[in-house]
Amino acid sequence: MASESKQREFLLEMLDLRKWFPVKEQGFIGSKQVANIKAVDGVNLAVYKGETLGLVGESGCGKTTTGKVIVKLEVPTTGQILYKGQDIYAFHTKEDEMHFKRNVQMIFQDPYSSLNPRMLIMDIVGEGLQIHESKMPKSQREEFVYELLDKVGLEDYHALRYPHEFSGGQRQRIGIARALSVNPELVVADEPVSALDVSVQAQILNLMQDLQKDFSLTYIFVAHDLSVIKHVSDRVAVMYLGTIVEYGHNRQVFTNTSHPYTVSLMSAIPRPDPRRKMKRIVLPGEPPSPINIPSGCRFHPRCYKSDGKKCVKEDPPMIEIEPEHFVKCHYPEV
Ligand SMILES: Nc1ncnc2c1ncn2[C@@H]1O[C@H](COP(=O)(O)OP(=O)(O)OP(=O)(O)O)[C@@H](O)[C@H]1O
Ligand SMILES: [Mg+2]
Repeated sequence: MASESKQREFLLEMLDLRKWFPVKEQGFIGSKQVANIKAVDGVNLAVYKGETLGLVGESGCGKTTTGKVIVKLEVPTTGQILYKGQDIYAFHTKEDEMHFKRNVQMIFQDPYSSLNPRMLIMDIVGEGLQIHESKMPKSQREEFVYELLDKVGLEDYHALRYPHEFSGGQRQRIGIARALSVNPELVVADEPVSALDVSVQAQILNLMQDLQKDFSLTYIFVAHDLSVIKHVSDRVAVMYLGTIVEYGHNRQVFTNTSHPYTVSLMSAIPRPDPRRKMKRIVLPGEPPSPINIPSGCRFHPRCYKSDGKKCVKEDPPMIEIEPEHFVKCHYPEV
């Protein structure tokens, strides 16, 4: 959303991050672990201050789990997350922990279920302030909520209503106001528009773009829709079966598309100019289960470039195919 990140300071780094969910089987004498769902399986990715990093991939590839681990709603199995260089699981003081919790917020996919139906909007939006600014007088807190509602395009009287009285787009505005109430630095937006009508999607995306400037925000923007990702992201990371297979600046990933998986995703985007039609590559089969991740390159069973040998045996390293554009493939396109 910001033109191109001028400041090159890392705000957040994920280092060989894994989140595996154990699969248990119930026997006569209790349960035993029989497998792991490898939802996040070796993610290395950094986020620059002030940028929008788009995270895209098919359903089930681990986008939401990555977001939850970043905001500490899930604990990683292995690996590290550094926030301004500090391990978020090894803060020395309670103040550092609180500072992190305040500065890293999440906006959820479903504006219908992410708001407590029994709470007034005033309390939903003001809750974070109550936790992080407990000494702030109630009247000041309320004033602040009114200001936030105004910033997200809602009216003062909306503060005394309940979530069910709002449309999907308005509820997402409330979710955004709630996230911004504590003045965060980083917002993980998990498919914030995918549950909304197309016309409303554009309004919410524009609002998020404006707020990014006003609040100097950094976004990790999760979506499975590539056209949304193209519209909002400074850099793009493509996720497949728990790992990142390609990342780089927006124009690099969209014009010098390198990983065969990204090529396949791109080929499915509807194009406004039919003369510039790209051959549609239909990915064979469903994504494999994250319980049984294929050997070698995990994309090889569905890949039109697989050689049936190296791709089956060797996990490709992440290579820098052009400055700041990375791809994890033995036979990249560019
Ligand atoms: N709490 C959990 N326990 C067990 N498995 C889980 C849990 N949360 C997620 N998973 C599994 O981990 C994998 C990744 O899920 P995740 O929700 O992160 O994917 P996603 O990319 O966000 O998908 P979508 O686009 O559908 O939102 C899936 O196979 C999912 O079923
Ligand atoms: Mg998800």
